[in-house]
Amino acid sequence: MKNKYLLPEDDGLPTREFGKWTIQKVEYLKKYISQSATSMRGKPWRQRSYIDMFSGTGKFELKGTNDIHLGSPLLALTTQHPFTHYYFVDYIEKNIDILRERSSSLPLQKKFYVGDANEKVKEIVRELQIADKKFISGKWPSFNLVFLDPDGLELEWRTVEALAQIKIMDMVIHYSQSGLTRNLDRCYASTDETIIDKFFGDEGWRQIYKTWQYKSSKKGLHRELMDYYQDKLKALGYVDIDSPEPLMKTAQTNAPLYRLVFASKHKLGHKFWKQGTQVDINGQRRLL
Ligand SMILES: C[S@@+](CC[C@H](N)C(=O)[O-])C[C@H]1O[C@@H](n2cnc3c(N)ncnc32)[C@H](O)[C@@H]1O
Repeated sequence: MKNKYLLPEDDGLPTREFGKWTIQKVEYLKKYISQSATSMRGKPWRQRSYIDMFSGTGKFELKGTNDIHLGSPLLALTTQHPFTHYYFVDYIEKNIDILRERSSSLPLQKKFYVGDANEKVKEIVRELQIADKKFISGKWPSFNLVFLDPDGLELEWRTVEALAQIKIMDMVIHYSQSGLTRNLDRCYASTDETIIDKFFGDEGWRQIYKTWQYKSSKKGLHRELMDYYQDKLKALGYVDIDSPEPLMKTAQTNAPLYRLVFASKHKLGHKFWKQGTQVDINGQRRLL
């Protein structure tokens, strides 16, 4: 029974349903983990950590089918050259219990947190900072990869900022275009701090939205908002940011759902990411 927990099949534990783009999303992540881990292992890192701030249960079922797939936590845990440390957060206790059970046979250093990712991030960053400060002769700083995969706009900018304090912290971010579309009007009309203010970390998006409303051509709002988000990442030291096509879209209406944003402070990270995202799950080659 134990092995079933680590395989993409029914193991008797609950599994949430997701749409087909989830396969694309975790496939890009898997390739990045594999490319970077192969190249980074054997190098004198102090530690190599994988952080999944919105982890879920470890598996998902493709909507409308009985197909079970490994989700981001189990893909990261079962990769050929595992990380030295793992951190998982979900605000649903049951999700963490299931993930703990599914991963229990793996003799790896795992920490589980139940709570809001935007709060729990402080504890995790503190731990990673301590690991980075430990001077060990001949050792490099720690290598860290964080996957930020909320359902919608739950990822607050302060969380991205907190993680960016760590010297080497590659990020794969689920940027929810549909979440923005659904909430823009309501949030713009509100004078309180809204979910979009928290997502961008300030009110700069409001000016972009206001200007766009008066434009004769209504194209390009999401491009401008994405540029704004990317500029903010650049200000944190993320030199070269990538957001591959295709944009994840709904099967029914073909309406944009979200983009995956990759941010790294080092060129090698970008090289691995681009290699891993060259071809999508439909076999389409992206333009580089
Ligand atoms: C899209 S799912 C993650 C799927 C996962 N990456 C995978 O590949 O299987 C998002 C998860 O984030 C959790 N979540 C949503 N908002 C959260 C928050 N503010 N803090 C922590 N977890 C949250 C949800 O319970 C859900 O399990």
